[in-house]
Amino acid sequence: MKAIILAGGSGTRLYPVTQAINKHFLPIYNKPMIYYPLSLVMLLGLREVLFIVNPGDIDTFKRLLGDGSHLGMHIEYKVQESPNGLAEGLVLGEEFIGGDNVCYMLGDNVFFGHDLVKIMAQAKKEINKHGGAYVFGYYVKDPERFGIVEFNEKGDVLSLEEKPKEPKSNFAVVGMYFYDNKVIEIAKGVKPSDRGELEITSVNQEYLNRGELKVKLLGRGFAWFDAGTHDSFLEAGEFVSTIENKTGLMIGCVEEIAYKNGWIDREQLIELAKFLEKTEYGRYLLELE
Ligand code: DAU
Repeated sequence: MKAIILAGGSGTRLYPVTQAINKHFLPIYNKPMIYYPLSLVMLLGLREVLFIVNPGDIDTFKRLLGDGSHLGMHIEYKVQESPNGLAEGLVLGEEFIGGDNVCYMLGDNVFFGHDLVKIMAQAKKEINKHGGAYVFGYYVKDPERFGIVEFNEKGDVLSLEEKPKEPKSNFAVVGMYFYDNKVIEIAKGVKPSDRGELEITSVNQEYLNRGELKVKLLGRGFAWFDAGTHDSFLEAGEFVSTIENKTGLMIGCVEEIAYKNGWIDREQLIELAKFLEKTEYGRYLLELE
């Protein structure tokens, strides 16, 4: 399985902060936003990642993450000419995906929780074994902001809707999706919605129509932020700061994960940390067991 992380878009809900800078470079507490989704795909053992980026941002992304070799990874970039919607990233990723399955992640989503990686690894396994699509629902108080999934008492999915004015449930579909290879053809068939976007919800709807959509609910023990608004951006930063300062352990530290995954050795880690020696981040890396 390969991973695609969407890091384009216009970021209008964060204006004027995002007028001159792409939101994925903004700090969620002490790291660029993009480290958080990247760290999650790394925790799932996915080493090949494609970032979908805006035309003007490719050099900045390369300055931050390069070709990924410093993390023992293979990172590529593909430009999305204009923010036509989430489903377009899957079409742009066709060549990169090749004949593989794909883990598709939104660049402004931050996750945290006990057994999160275990649950997502299960979804990855399921798709690799049986195909189809696997998504996650999370209870929110403001469902009109998200893609929403409705269930019956047996847990069967009844409907999916993108940002409904009158939501049929409070379960948002979070920005982490697992798909089999059919997704490329499905995404190619998506037509713009009423708001003019190629919606990821239309991709999920097609899997639902085919009886191939699995949805797992993430319970209360998980934290999920879509950091695309001023309030959620701030909340995500405060959350990371609270957890990190309580435990002394970092969330979303990509160098740490690369090291613990065995993708870089101690010498390479020290090399990376030396560059940051005078910073708290660098000292954290140097102190890793
Ligand atoms: O966060 C979960 C929600 O994300 C889902 O519940 C919704 O179903 C889904 O449509 C999406 O809604 P948002 O309105 O939050 O999407 P947003 O426009 O913020 O874009 C999500 C990420 O994708 C963000 O990191 C920017 C990037 N993006 C967005 C668009 C529209 C792109 O790279 N290209 C695009 O064309």
